[in-house]
Amino acid sequence: MEIIGVYNFKGGVGKTTTAVNLAYRSAAEDWPTVVWDLDPQDTGAAKELIRGQTPLRDVVVATEHERLDLIPADFSYRKMDVHLDKRHDAATLLLKLMRPLQERYACLILDCPPGLSLVSENVMHAADALVVPLLPTPLSARMLEQLFAFIAARHWHDVNVLPFFSMVDRRRALHKETVAELRARFPAILKTEVPYGSEFERMAARRAPIESYAPASAAAETYRALWREIDGHLMSLSNSRAARSGTATTEFAADSDLIGSPWSAGRG
Ligand SMILES: Nc1ncnc2c1ncn2[C@@H]1O[C@H](COP(=O)(O)OP(=O)(O)OP(=O)(O)O)[C@@H](O)[C@H]1O
Ligand SMILES: [Mg+2]
Repeated sequence: MEIIGVYNFKGGVGKTTTAVNLAYRSAAEDWPTVVWDLDPQDTGAAKELIRGQTPLRDVVVATEHERLDLIPADFSYRKMDVHLDKRHDAATLLLKLMRPLQERYACLILDCPPGLSLVSENVMHAADALVVPLLPTPLSARMLEQLFAFIAARHWHDVNVLPFFSMVDRRRALHKETVAELRARFPAILKTEVPYGSEFERMAARRAPIESYAPASAAAETYRALWREIDGHLMSLSNSRAARSGTATTEFAADSDLIGSPWSAGRG
């Protein structure tokens, strides 16, 4: 299972929009996919989950899209943080919680809340790829520096930080200059840029991935391009992992039995 975290310290940069659209594409590529919404809510479910009273599978719901499931936000992010705090294995707790997902999904996408917390730390530690939507403003340089420093200080060499520009308005000189400047400084930034546009905003109102209702749109193509880049990085990552461990890469075979199985409770 590939784990993709979508993260930025900052709020409102397009994390959730990115997570949902990447997840849709992943599922469309035949990968059973689950999005875990880690945004704050307070229903106490996190506590249950952390204590292991609720098997993780009971909190997964199917979406109306094939092969795409969701772990909704009715986990208390704050409580989860508190509980993470109490445990000495906090650094690996999220990884443990994710274990049962491994047999069922080829791709797990973690939609992070903004800010720095034990939850986001866990995500950074667990992710194969950390996708970082960046606003084209000078502050983003500082944010990226901090993020790279944070990860380096913890020796998490396995996490592949993949920033990309989000909400770019090419008509604005400041955006254009910032994009050029940051690209020169941070070669890790992906080529795909998500433009600022009302079609992205409308997605929130429709509560659906853009590709599900406007597959031929430029916006849908943008996310396909973003997915291809991320997928390419994940592939070279798993090849190097396989090379390190001396085993051949086995390609994931989508198991149609998993789709719509009783394991994932249907919606409604
Ligand atoms: N490319 C875009 N152009 C214009 N608006 C966008 C774009 N991407 C997302 N939006 C809008 O910007 C707002 C914030 O996006 P989103 O919720 O994805 O950000 P977020 O980083 O997840 O926010 P939070 O930190 O609050 O979770 C939403 O209203 C969304 O519809
Ligand atoms: Mg969000």
